[in-house]
Amino acid sequence: MRFDAAAQTRKSCRPDYFTRLFYRMNWDQLDWAALDRLRTGFLAGNAASSGPYWQSPSDLASYDLTFAERIGWKWDALLRELTLRNWSPPAGTTLLDWGCGSGVAGRRVLSAFGPARFNALHVWDHSEHARTFAATRARETFPSLPVAASTSEPAPDSLPAYTLVISHVLNELPPDARAQLLALVARAAAVIWIEPGTHADSRALASVRDQLRDGPHRIVAPCTHRETCPLFQAVNDRDWCHFFAPPPVGIQNSPDWVRWSHRAGLDLRSQAYSCLVLDRSDHSTLNSQLSTEHARVLGRPEVFKPYARFLACDASGLHWLELPKRLAPALVKRLDKNPPVPLYALAHDGHRVTAMTPLVSDAASPEDAPHTDA
Ligand SMILES: C[S@@+](CC[C@H](N)C(=O)[O-])C[C@H]1O[C@@H](n2cnc3c(N)ncnc32)[C@H](O)[C@@H]1O
Repeated sequence: MRFDAAAQTRKSCRPDYFTRLFYRMNWDQLDWAALDRLRTGFLAGNAASSGPYWQSPSDLASYDLTFAERIGWKWDALLRELTLRNWSPPAGTTLLDWGCGSGVAGRRVLSAFGPARFNALHVWDHSEHARTFAATRARETFPSLPVAASTSEPAPDSLPAYTLVISHVLNELPPDARAQLLALVARAAAVIWIEPGTHADSRALASVRDQLRDGPHRIVAPCTHRETCPLFQAVNDRDWCHFFAPPPVGIQNSPDWVRWSHRAGLDLRSQAYSCLVLDRSDHSTLNSQLSTEHARVLGRPEVFKPYARFLACDASGLHWLELPKRLAPALVKRLDKNPPVPLYALAHDGHRVTAMTPLVSDAASPEDAPHTDA
């Protein structure tokens, strides 16, 4: 056997080379051509139609700094709601990030709940570039956590108890891959799933939610009930279940982000997302207020001088409601600029709200700080 000195040198240089050039890319090194190509595929909704589209670690590093970071803000918003509700995934499970891309979703979940909550992180993607990138970034950020990049599609029976994380994958999956993913969902101890907040993506996730309704999971978010999703009644055709995540403070003054958002055609003021969170517990994370329904307000309330108008979902269906300002002046003011977690004890007559109290207190606490062991 010949000794290939050049290959040995390449191999021994590899971690440094990747770390320096790719895994820690900065704005001056962005591969704009790769970002344009990725964006075109995402917009057309057929990105993965001819197989994995990540062509190099540099694609993933450019994506991780931009598109993925923006997706991270959606994760921050949902994880904030879950932590304010004192919800956490079951302790001691393996965290499985399926369709991991650069791995932003798994890392955000580890930051929110702490790596010690999990036995290990497994990342899976049909692209090897993605698996390698996501595992490397996770090892850097959480050095004490065992991280594995699965080399074959994870099968539900072959895994120990797992918390499944899914992010921005559903519209890329052909029917067989979607069925495999749903088999994993069915066996998961908990699922935290975010998709884009478009009409089509939100409805696709709602239809997954309806398929799982008869299964063993409790629906933690977004629903406050277990009825068939009312979006699928013909009268609600135009509506969809989505929410908005703010960017971190200062992003809109960052020349790098402004330039990127113009090129990507994305408005950074708010990022629309849809979500599904499941677990197998029977403990409620909402205050019980027996005289009223628990409801979730969808989308963005419109605030006018004498009232606010919004779409609310409860066990009786979807309702366009008006909340008179005189009934709850402080809440109407908050709905305009700084809405609370949109879960309420809500009484209404089908048009007008007669009582409305936020169910989740969101006074900031020092425990909101993210976890890391890096
Ligand atoms: C839009 S990217 C999202 C990546 C990451 N989850 C995130 O939120 O940033 C979709 C990911 O799904 C992966 N993917 C698409 N089809 C897949 C399949 N059949 N099996 C596994 N991964 C798949 C792609 O390779 C890509 O990494």
